[in-house]
Amino acid sequence: MTARPDRTRPETLAESSLAVHAGNRLDSTKALRTPLVMSNSYQLPDDPSEISWSATAPGLYTRNTGVNQEALQHKLAALDEAEDAVALASGVAALHAVFFTHVRVGDHVLVSDVTYEATWRLWTELLPGRYGIEATFVDITDLEAVRAALRPNTRLVCIEAIANPTTKVADVAAIADIVHDAGAILMVDSTYTPPPLYRPIADGADLVVHSLTKYINGHGDAMGGSVSGRRELIEPIKADAMVDVGGIISPFNAWQIQRGSVTLPLRLRQHLSSAETISRFLEEDPRVAYVYYPGLPSHPEHELATRQFRGRGYGGMMAFAVQGGPDMQNRFVANLRLITSGFSLGHDDSLIVHTGTEGGRVATYPEPFRTMGHLRLSVGLEDAADLVTDLAYALDETYG
Ligand SMILES: Cc1ncc(COP(=O)(O)O)c(C=O)c1O
Repeated sequence: MTARPDRTRPETLAESSLAVHAGNRLDSTKALRTPLVMSNSYQLPDDPSEISWSATAPGLYTRNTGVNQEALQHKLAALDEAEDAVALASGVAALHAVFFTHVRVGDHVLVSDVTYEATWRLWTELLPGRYGIEATFVDITDLEAVRAALRPNTRLVCIEAIANPTTKVADVAAIADIVHDAGAILMVDSTYTPPPLYRPIADGADLVVHSLTKYINGHGDAMGGSVSGRRELIEPIKADAMVDVGGIISPFNAWQIQRGSVTLPLRLRQHLSSAETISRFLEEDPRVAYVYYPGLPSHPEHELATRQFRGRGYGGMMAFAVQGGPDMQNRFVANLRLITSGFSLGHDDSLIVHTGTEGGRVATYPEPFRTMGHLRLSVGLEDAADLVTDLAYALDETYG
């Protein structure tokens, strides 16, 4: 028999009900939503000398956990189907928190050859030189290469379910098996694939990172990041990277993100269906040089994406380029009237950003990204037909 839905028992709720109710708590105010508590300090028990400096409990000091952060963490753990979660100041703070807490001098990490810029920078320019941790970059779609690159001292493997920016898709379950056989842990950055589109923990990921700044907040007005996983892995992140290093999320951002996340399942449906429409439109236009979107049959990992995301969709992000090299990409973006040029993604408004052919990370991209540059499009919640019309007009203006 189906369990009776009960908002006090998250395990009985379907995804949209969870997004509305998980983490909400009634307190003495009886407010139906968790009130915003901006206090940075709380009244301590009679004998505070018993409290450890790195305590991760609420009711002490906001760097040790705030009311709104805790409510958000409950919700994120429920959405990710994880034992625990920690919310931090930004997605980058969450990535750094994983690396800082779970990797030591002398360890080796394996990193996908396509990652978000900060992960790439941390593992090329910052952490190896400063902390003596070796990092190897590998094509994670080549499972034999992943297996071969693991070493006895490999502690952590970092991948993205759909990678920013090329949309390379990782086979999380297969990689998790290989990583676990080698005694390492797998971190999946799932920023492009928030729940309920995908829950990497169900496929064996040990740690899941989200930039909450993106789809989970969804309105482009707050920054945050999170890590979900087993308590034994999350608790040290809270103690070390949150309390001791201070990567805490602000109460206001936590409150804002919890509110934004209420509509996450609903918003995702629109992002996903519009992205499929737009990717097909772009692929059919001869003035477009290439389109990478996992929902297109032409995408190298299309079948894997269909299986892995259980037919729920392929995300709201795509990479493409118009014919003619970097100058034409700029000209095309300048001709858009509805889609805005901006760095972020997963917002209600559609955002596009042109990455040229210069810069260290670009040299690591495959063709055609390396020589043509690319446009990263985050499909927003505007009407899909309006977005297609905007792209069509901009193509006409650009090519005359
Ligand atoms: C895949 C991915 N991970 C992490 C981040 C970092 O998030 P934030 O900007 O919240 O620090 C981003 C930001 O674009 C991202 O795309």
